[in-house]
Amino acid sequence: MDKASNEDRVDFDRYATNYRELHDRNISASGETSEYFARYKARYLVRLLGTGFAGRILDYGCGIGLVTAELSTFLPLARLEAFDESKASIANVKPELKRKVHFCTDFSEVGAADVILVANVLHHVVLPERQLLINRLSAKLATSGRLVIFEHNPKNPLTVAAVRDCSFDEDAVLLQSGETVSLCAGAGLKVLRRDYIVFFPRQLSWLRALEPSLRWLPIGAQYAVVASKP
Ligand SMILES: C[S@@+](CC[C@H](N)C(=O)[O-])C[C@H]1O[C@@H](n2cnc3c(N)ncnc32)[C@H](O)[C@@H]1O
Repeated sequence: MDKASNEDRVDFDRYATNYRELHDRNISASGETSEYFARYKARYLVRLLGTGFAGRILDYGCGIGLVTAELSTFLPLARLEAFDESKASIANVKPELKRKVHFCTDFSEVGAADVILVANVLHHVVLPERQLLINRLSAKLATSGRLVIFEHNPKNPLTVAAVRDCSFDEDAVLLQSGETVSLCAGAGLKVLRRDYIVFFPRQLSWLRALEPSLRWLPIGAQYAVVASKP
């Protein structure tokens, strides 16, 4: 199968009602749930921005809003907006979250942002369109705004196995962290950080306090790249 073609793309509308359940099952070896991974990302942003951050954050490719919900809790002053091309996913966002956050499926409705989050989206974007997407997001960033990308780490064998066994990852083509860094640089952004994250399963949770000091070690289950607009 030529995974680089648009015809093979996963239609997330088909997974909107059971996304969380499928995801929970797929990551069960970690001993954690979708909520843990969503909260992990929100906490990463809190460390980056500070709890009092009151700027505009766009959650691009927000799905059913799992990370968006955590951001609304952990960054209560931020002005949140969330976009996904999957209409059914947006329709499945919890009504109470929709009262706090503007969700949309029309990119022309999306305003400028101080921070754009792209969590586990890029591996679903066909190769020829990845640079175009990062360029488009860069254009929405305010001056000195930051793009924060989370991705699965193809160097981690457990991550690769989980992606292989996940029905909504059928079209996934994982990106090495260097590829993500190059996409940011290609859009004229200055890369500020590349952090490997999520090292220990729940069974070894007592070791998790070490994770921030392991951010250089390229075997974390995922990684984050942070880039800023000059
Ligand atoms: C694995 S889900 C991640 C959802 C969410 N970011 C999270 O971490 O829970 C990937 C999401 O990316 C969306 N997506 C894929 N390609 C996209 C694109 N080019 N533009 C916008 N959303 C896209 C899908 O519709 C899906 O909701």
